[in-house]
Amino acid sequence: MRTSFPKEKLRVALLENIHPAAEEAFARDGFSVTCFPKGATGEELAAIADGATVLGIRSKSHVDPSTFGKLPRLLAVGCFCIGTNQVDLRRACAAGVPVFNSPFSNTRSVAELTVAEVVALMRRLIVKSEQMHRGVWDKSAEGAREVRGKVLGIVGYGHIGSQVSVLAEAMGMRVVYYDIVPRLPIGNARAARSLAELLSQADVVTLHVPATARTKGMIGAPEIGAMRTGVLLINNARGTIVDLPALAVGLRSGRLGGAAIDVFPDEPAENSEGFQSELRGVANVILTPHVGGSTAEAQEAIAHDVSGKLLRFINNGSTTGAVNVPEVELPEQGAGGAGGVGGVDQAVEPGDATPDTGVPRRHRILHFHRNVPGVLSKMHSIIADLGANIAAEYLQTNQDVGYVVLDVDPSDGEAILQRLRAIPETISVRMLW
Ligand code: NAI
Repeated sequence: MRTSFPKEKLRVALLENIHPAAEEAFARDGFSVTCFPKGATGEELAAIADGATVLGIRSKSHVDPSTFGKLPRLLAVGCFCIGTNQVDLRRACAAGVPVFNSPFSNTRSVAELTVAEVVALMRRLIVKSEQMHRGVWDKSAEGAREVRGKVLGIVGYGHIGSQVSVLAEAMGMRVVYYDIVPRLPIGNARAARSLAELLSQADVVTLHVPATARTKGMIGAPEIGAMRTGVLLINNARGTIVDLPALAVGLRSGRLGGAAIDVFPDEPAENSEGFQSELRGVANVILTPHVGGSTAEAQEAIAHDVSGKLLRFINNGSTTGAVNVPEVELPEQGAGGAGGVGGVDQAVEPGDATPDTGVPRRHRILHFHRNVPGVLSKMHSIIADLGANIAAEYLQTNQDVGYVVLDVDPSDGEAILQRLRAIPETISVRMLW
């Protein structure tokens, strides 16, 4: 029985107007792609993605536990965005479905916005612009400063923080940074020993840390009190990091000279919802609706990044970049390379040959199983019983599942799959050839 599966029959469902670069990548590789403008959840999502091998979403769709039962062919989920909260990751892991995202494709967008805001706050651009829109001509240098020579304090020297550092130094700023992990300075930047040390020196403080228990309320009344008078504060990271009522008091009292805030503790779920904040109406405060990473370039970069990760998993088995299953980085398949793609529980007729050389292809078996002792030895016995030779083996586990990849010399793929499927701990198994 031949059960090989032509790629054009493998369906990719892309929701929420994902950038066309993703559709192009899958179509170029031979997949059948359907795109939907809207997000979906529950029954609606299951209906839209019916029969899909790959599901691509952004932040509006929700993949809840019941979805996995309704999409039995699903091999992988791509979150074409930064976060993955909208997917039940534990359930996806238990179903052997890797979830991929793109955490760093918008790094440059956030860094550029941050640098623009440093200049805008220093020159009180927003105040001037608002006055002009109201018909007020106030030509004066009062409160306007150059950024050259000023000290920029970067809290969190990761992907974004270090990019901001480079751009700020190019404008002549002096950079001091604070990170809980030792980070090599870039250019002439200097590491502060503590947050307090940074706060005591900076003319502008910009936050680039993740939302963690430790960063919750990291900038509150005591920290604002420890800053130099007239300091500018920028938060393009996460809304939980700054105590906004304390910030509003600091700004209104003149202790702080201005702020730029892109992220809020309670952000509206829809554009149609209004925006409430104690910062509305405060002078020299730039408010933006969590758009720090939202640029055309970032959207395109995300589409390339996530579709690339999904295609590698489907075509080669690598789970590199997955957020919920063990990461296994695999080489190209030996003896002629990958010739076809099996869906869940699908195999290929024995004896397939590479079209170019006539040499039978090595089979790659991809096996997700519950992480309990003894599964690997059961797999080895089955392969030995069937007289197949294991050419290479890769294994990674997390708390819940194991992911084993076996490259075996050409053999009876269907028999191997049937026997592996019968192991009680097996979650899913597929074969590339
Ligand atoms: P990253 O993980 O590359 O860097 C974060 C850095 O913060 C790391 O070096 C880490 O060691 C450090 N850190 C963690 N806890 C710390 C603490 N308590 N004190 C000091 N340093 C600490 O992250 P990346 O990509 O640079 O992102 C930074 C922030 O920007 C994240 O919160 C991310 O969610 C946010 N972000 C916001 C966007 C927007 O649209 N406004 C878009 C993209 C990211």
